[in-house]
Amino acid sequence: MTDSKPRKTLTLKKKAPAADTRSRPEEQEPRLRSGARARQVAQQRREQEAEAPTAAPARAPRSAAARHAQPPTSERAEQGRAGRQTDFRAARRQQPARDALRPSSRSPAREPAPQRMAAPRNKEIFQVFAPCPLGLEDVLHAELDALGYQGLRKGRAGCHFEADWTGVLKANLYSRLATRILVRLAHAPVQTEDDILELARNTEWERWFGAEQTLRVDTSAVRSPMKSLQYCNLRAKDGICDRLRDLEGERPSIDTVRPDARVHLFLDEHTATLYLDTSGESLFKRGWRLQKGEAPLRENLAAGLLALSDWDPSAALLDPFCGSGTLLIEAAWIALGIPAGIWRPFGFERLRDHDARHWRDIKQDARSRIATRLDAPLLGYDIDPRVIAAAEGNRERAMLSPDTIRFVVGDARKVKPDCEPGWIITNPPYGERMEEDASFWPQWAENLKRHYAGWNVNIITSNLELPSLMRLKPRRRHPVYNGALDCRLFSFEMVEKSYRN
Ligand SMILES: C[S@@+](CC[C@H](N)C(=O)[O-])C[C@H]1O[C@@H](n2cnc3c(N)ncnc32)[C@H](O)[C@@H]1O
Repeated sequence: MTDSKPRKTLTLKKKAPAADTRSRPEEQEPRLRSGARARQVAQQRREQEAEAPTAAPARAPRSAAARHAQPPTSERAEQGRAGRQTDFRAARRQQPARDALRPSSRSPAREPAPQRMAAPRNKEIFQVFAPCPLGLEDVLHAELDALGYQGLRKGRAGCHFEADWTGVLKANLYSRLATRILVRLAHAPVQTEDDILELARNTEWERWFGAEQTLRVDTSAVRSPMKSLQYCNLRAKDGICDRLRDLEGERPSIDTVRPDARVHLFLDEHTATLYLDTSGESLFKRGWRLQKGEAPLRENLAAGLLALSDWDPSAALLDPFCGSGTLLIEAAWIALGIPAGIWRPFGFERLRDHDARHWRDIKQDARSRIATRLDAPLLGYDIDPRVIAAAEGNRERAMLSPDTIRFVVGDARKVKPDCEPGWIITNPPYGERMEEDASFWPQWAENLKRHYAGWNVNIITSNLELPSLMRLKPRRRHPVYNGALDCRLFSFEMVEKSYRN
């Protein structure tokens, strides 16, 4: 469920769908949904959903994460008209959602199938889990709170909350910190792998996908006594496929690369939970990054570092080791109120009964709130000109004009600020090469002490000795994982040399 190392995770490898040897066409009932019937039900559902309340509006911001979660006010969008720094009219078109309601040409079900009596999605409140990188739980909680979600509860490497279906879509669109948005469909005590099979068989997958969709199942566990996660994964997949075969005559095929539907099985000491993954690809993939430098940060971790550093989007931000520009591009999107998921497709678009019109309206509303002018200078340096070129390419794909973020070739040990003090948030190089270069950290520290008085400096590193190498005392140290790396975000306040002891 998360990207953090301490958990066991497992993905089912591609396997040919099992042939249904029991299927006898002469006994089969017609599928419950012809195309016409499906369209009629979808229309009724849309009408009901139009009357249903949507997710609660955002509340007043309380923290940096909350501020970063706020869709910008119309006032800021107004101000933005003076000088356009984003080009959203020339935006790429989203991939059209697949028509999940098309009539199937496949064989009808073998046994009389129970009718798909799905409750209208937007009348239902779902239990949702949003995983995030370890260490971002507090800021994710603050972000979801600011977005107006109820029933918030921090978990390990994630946050639980409640939402109606519109709220689920909006969490995908707006959350900068979540890695996925998982909707809980089943939860029960389990003792054996067969209990997992039963749980999966008894879950109404047909509401969300069927034999016409491809499927991927992932399993993760914390303190589970089960012997083989791979076997647990197989049991879950078999339970899902058996149910759909019994109802609809065919099993979905497995596709681990680009599945239509993803299911996550999570096991703990005593229970199993089955989640429908509504995101598809991980949410840190915003859609703008093609060019990577050396060890780029994931976009949701970058957004988390901005939130943990309490960066004020109206103040300057400098990244002296900017690499492919992740921190600065995330910052520009926060400052302009560009929703994190505005350019990318989502898994829910490929599920059954996806209401493409409703989704288009949600995105249209989000686009209308985007500001077009930045107040704060955003500046990135990197010593490697190829990396600076990559950052510029990413900036362009993120639909940001060159005057939003300045990317400049420069050595962090020498560059001086050319604006009022603000924030430095950065992910300096690490690894063997750095450990060998003993002079690097004192030289950079000397430049900061001389020229950056008044700046709020925040450094993510796996080198826990860094403060002593720089001879700086951190004001705060926040544990956070960068993939599998156990890191700290160290925060320092640079004071005038004459005030230091
Ligand atoms: C860990 S990477 C930063 C990755 C970045 N956060 C991203 O998401 O792409 C460190 C970067 O520091 C750069 N670098 C190394 N020494 C430098 C120096 N003296 N001054 C400026 N940049 C330097 C490297 O070229 C590399 O791109």
